[in-house]
Amino acid sequence: MTIDIDLHKLPQHIAIIMDGNGRWAQNHTLGRIMGHQKGVETVQRTVRLCREIGIKYLTLYAFSVENWSRPDQEVKALMKILREYLRSELDEMLQNGIRLTTIGDIDALQEPVRNLLQETMDRTSGNREMVLNLALSYGGQDEILQAVRRILKDAQEGRLDPASISKASFASYLYTAGMPDPDLLIRTSGEYRISNFLLWQSAYTEFYFTDVLWPDFSKADLFSAIADYQQRERRYGLTSDQLRREKID
Ligand code: IPE
Ligand code: IPE
Ligand code: MG
Repeated sequence: MTIDIDLHKLPQHIAIIMDGNGRWAQNHTLGRIMGHQKGVETVQRTVRLCREIGIKYLTLYAFSVENWSRPDQEVKALMKILREYLRSELDEMLQNGIRLTTIGDIDALQEPVRNLLQETMDRTSGNREMVLNLALSYGGQDEILQAVRRILKDAQEGRLDPASISKASFASYLYTAGMPDPDLLIRTSGEYRISNFLLWQSAYTEFYFTDVLWPDFSKADLFSAIADYQQRERRYGLTSDQLRREKID
């Protein structure tokens, strides 16, 4: 199946809640960890594809702050899978101009993963084609709280005038500082919730939900999401008439 997308009207930033690995494994009478392993293949495919078509920012929700409460064995396996992923992808990131960044409470990760992340970020920091942004130990509410704490501290210590705080300056305290907000947010596996992802940043994001489980998410599924996005009118509270006039002016 080929789905037409307009390469001149691509979302600049796609964010994905990669959900459904566990159910995929269950459907195949496999353990949950096998589902995560299969999910990594989808990550590799999706990163490659986004880079090929010219997406500038891809944010993947890989591990939420709530996911720490999963069984120990699953958390350990996910961290191992992450380490293996980082090791296996470095060359391709360097070849394809992909810069790795992270959002989340990275200090909560164990040292071997943290070091590997840091090394990968350092080595890819000069890359300019696409940003691959991994959300790890990420929670949107925690992100807002840490911003508030740092803002209060800066105000207390005289570096910031509280009256001057704007939406833009607040955003500069978030993990995503300097990154555009997501234009399109995709969630797989038929769940219709945000699960603490990019709460501030998704104020005007277009949402796309699909029943497909993450390990099965294909090129056609990604293109369907982009094609759907391209049909939408992003009004930002205005009327259609106003938008049409803005385009002419
Ligand atoms: C998403 O798949 C991956 C992570 C949260 C790490 P799940 O593991 O949540 O899969 P389901 O929702 O149980 O099917
Ligand atoms: C969201 O999926 C987190 C990631 C995809 C990493 P979850 O499976 O953890 O979300 P809930 O529990 O269904 O809301
Ligand atoms: Mg899930």
